[in-house]
Amino acid sequence: MAMIPEKYACLFIDATWKDIIAAFSFSTVNNSSQERNLLQGKLEKLFGGSDQWLACLSIRTALDTFLTVMNFPIGSEVIFTALNIPDMVSVVERHGLKIVPVDLDLDTLAPKPELVELAVTDKTVAILAAHLYGKWINLDKVFQVAHSRGLYVLEDCAESFQGLEKKGHKLSDLTFFSFGSIKHYTSLGGAMVRVKNSEILSKMRAKLKEYPVQNQWTYFKKLSCYSLLMASGLNNSLFNWFFINLFHLMGFKYKEYFISLLRAFPGGVSMDKLRSQPSAMLLEFMLYRLRRVNSKDFRMIKLKGDFVSSNLPGNVFVPGQRADIKSYWLFPMLVDDPDEVVTALEKEGVEAYRGATQLSTVYRTKPTEADQKDRAKFRQENQTEKLLYSFSTAQPEVAAGSGSSIGNAVSRPSVEFFCTAPVNTATTNRTFSKEKDDVLFPHNAKYLIDHVVYLPVHKRVSFQHLEHICNSVEKVMKNRIGVKIANTSDVLFKSKL
Ligand SMILES: Cc1ncc(COP(=O)(O)O)c(C=O)c1O
Repeated sequence: MAMIPEKYACLFIDATWKDIIAAFSFSTVNNSSQERNLLQGKLEKLFGGSDQWLACLSIRTALDTFLTVMNFPIGSEVIFTALNIPDMVSVVERHGLKIVPVDLDLDTLAPKPELVELAVTDKTVAILAAHLYGKWINLDKVFQVAHSRGLYVLEDCAESFQGLEKKGHKLSDLTFFSFGSIKHYTSLGGAMVRVKNSEILSKMRAKLKEYPVQNQWTYFKKLSCYSLLMASGLNNSLFNWFFINLFHLMGFKYKEYFISLLRAFPGGVSMDKLRSQPSAMLLEFMLYRLRRVNSKDFRMIKLKGDFVSSNLPGNVFVPGQRADIKSYWLFPMLVDDPDEVVTALEKEGVEAYRGATQLSTVYRTKPTEADQKDRAKFRQENQTEKLLYSFSTAQPEVAAGSGSSIGNAVSRPSVEFFCTAPVNTATTNRTFSKEKDDVLFPHNAKYLIDHVVYLPVHKRVSFQHLEHICNSVEKVMKNRIGVKIANTSDVLFKSKL
C-alpha cells in the first residue's frame, strides 16, 4: 500500500475545524457587560469559583493588573525564573520594578534552590516561577524562601495547562494559565488566573473593569487569520507536506512568517493592547473549549513526547527530563550547532525550528546611576572583608563537547571572588554586589536558548513520523560533537553555599 506523504510543522493550532466553526458562530453573542459578566462567571465556576478565579484577556494583562493594584515602590525587585517571554519582563519593568533572574537546573527546569535564596534582597517583593515546556517543577524552596521573607509567589503555568484537575499550587498567591494561540486548548487568547487573597482579587477585578472591552470585530479578524493558517495546511500533515515542500522550492522562509502571525499581540506588546477586557466572543469560545477538555489528549501528548525523548541519540540533551511531573509543550532539544542541525534535519524531511516560541533568557534589569553609586558605596564599606568561598563562573552545566560520554563532569575554571558575608544571613540582604550578580548570571538559561532546536513533536504527529524524527536526529548527530552533560550534583557553588 502506498504511504501518504506527511510533514509536520513544530507548531500547530490546537483546535479542530469544528472548534473554529463554533468560534465564528459566537460572533453573534452580544458584547454587553451583562453577557460578559455571565460568561466570566461560568468560566470562573469551571475552575473553582469567582472567589478565587479571574477570567481575563491574557496572563500579561493579569500580571500588569496585579502590579498596578499592589503599587510596589519603584526599584522593588521581582525574582524571575531565567527563562520567560520578553513581554513578561517588560510588564514588570514598566512598573519601575527590577528583574532579578534565577538560573534554571536544566534537568528539571526549576530555578536552582540555592540561587533563589541568594537572589532575595531587602527590595524583593515577589518570585515568579514558570513551569516551562509542559514540565511541572518543584516549588518547595520557592515557598520556603517566600514565606520566610513575606514575598508573593507568582506561578506561571502558561505552558503547562494539563486539564482542569491540575490548577497549580494552592500556596501560590497568583497562578496563571494562558489560552493564547499556540497553547494547549487554545481559544486564541484569554487567560485564567487564580488569586489567593480575596482583597487583591477584588481590587484586580475592579481595575480590569475600568479597561475598554476588546472589539468583537478585532477578535473576529484574528480568528479569520488563524483559520487561514489552518486552511493553508498548518494542522494537516498531507497539506503540510505539499505546502512546506513548495515553500522550500520557492525559497520562502515560511517558518518566520507563520510564527510572526501566531504571536498573540503581533507587533509587540503595548499597554493599550494589554489593558483590555476580553470580548464576549472570546469568553464564549474559551468556555466552549474548556468545557471539552479531555484527559486523553494529555496522555497522548506525554506518550508521544516520552517516546521521542527515550529514542533520541545520547549526544543531544532534552531539558526537563527530571521534572516533578513531565509532560510536553513544544519539544526542545539542545545541540552543539543548532543552525546546522536545523538545516540537516530539513534535508531529512524534519521541520525543526529555532524560534518556535518567544521564550528568551531573562537578564537582570540594568542598574541605574543611583544603583551604581549605591554599589560603589557598599563595596567601599566592605573592602576589608575576607574571602569566604570560591565558586565557578561563566559555565553552564551542559556544554558542547566531543564524543558521546554523557554524564562526565565538564571541567570548569574556578574563579575566586570576595564574598561579603555568608549567604544565609540577613546581612546579605543588600541591594547589589558584583559577586551576587556573577553567581546570578543565567548561564544555563542562556545556554538553552543559544542551543535549542524545537522538534515537530506533538499529539497530532503520527508514531511513524515520530520514529522518522528519531532516526533523522540519530543520522544528523552521528558525526557531530553534540552536547555533554556535566554532573549536576557537582555544581561547585552549590556545595560551597
Ligand atoms: C512562560 C510564559 N509566560 C507567560 C506567557 C504570556 O501568556 P499570555 O499570552 O496569556 O499573556 C507566555 C506566552 O507565551 C509564556 O510562554
